[in-house]
Amino acid sequence: MEVIIQSNAEDGCVLGAKIIAKTVREKPDAVLGLATGRTPERLYRELVRMHREEGLDFSRVTTFNLDEYVGLPPEHRQSYRYFMNEHLFRHINIDLANTHVPAGTAQDLQAECRDYEERITAAGGIDVQLLGLGRNGHIGFNEPTGSLRSRTWIKILSEQTLNDNAAVFGDRDAMPRHAVTMGIGTIMEARQVVLLAFGPAKVRAVMEMIEGPLSAICPGSALQAHPRAIVVLDEASAAGLRYASHYRWVDQNKLAWQRYD
Ligand code: F6R
Repeated sequence: MEVIIQSNAEDGCVLGAKIIAKTVREKPDAVLGLATGRTPERLYRELVRMHREEGLDFSRVTTFNLDEYVGLPPEHRQSYRYFMNEHLFRHINIDLANTHVPAGTAQDLQAECRDYEERITAAGGIDVQLLGLGRNGHIGFNEPTGSLRSRTWIKILSEQTLNDNAAVFGDRDAMPRHAVTMGIGTIMEARQVVLLAFGPAKVRAVMEMIEGPLSAICPGSALQAHPRAIVVLDEASAAGLRYASHYRWVDQNKLAWQRYD
């Protein structure tokens, strides 16, 4: 894992956007894996700015989102398809036909999961997968103890996740309890992954993900086995790390071509 500690979430999101932009510039028909949630909102604003001011071109890009709530149609304001349209897709020159979000309203959800995997394979696999981190260590909606080799599947959301995301829905009972999510095995096949985690609420999950054992108890810890995993933190989320000074040392001593900023 490459751990990069930025002074704040703003800088972390700008760095994350630079990593994605680098992929798109080097490979104009890149396949991006995308995430939703509070964490990447600022990153998407930066990609939009790069598109408008620097001509970052998404016309040949394909995207696959990590997950979607079961039962929410695309026009539902809390659906992840709606989130992506609002925060990114409608502000850049991407062809909406090339943007994929699992269909949470599919009649046959298991067929949708298989189909989603097939679409990722047909697109040539994911070049860079963006991730956030749940307070319980989840990536996508792979909650603790889910199989580290899982493929796109239906997950029951944990009570912690319901509590963490309930505010957006008004109250917890209005929130779906199930989601379609890429599996951990699916995420691990991306050629590069970039995980962002900011703020004091993520301290424990960050510690377990980076310095704890590789274990299904903390799904994010699977990234320890990924050959190209970058974790971008701020000072607050990095506060519990034993080897923080080592990560800073490594970052200060990178060769020019190893840097993203
Ligand atoms: C979102 C997703 C989730 C979130 C995680 C963190 O597509 O898959 O794993 O990344 O729950 O959410 P925030 O960023 O709201 O703290």
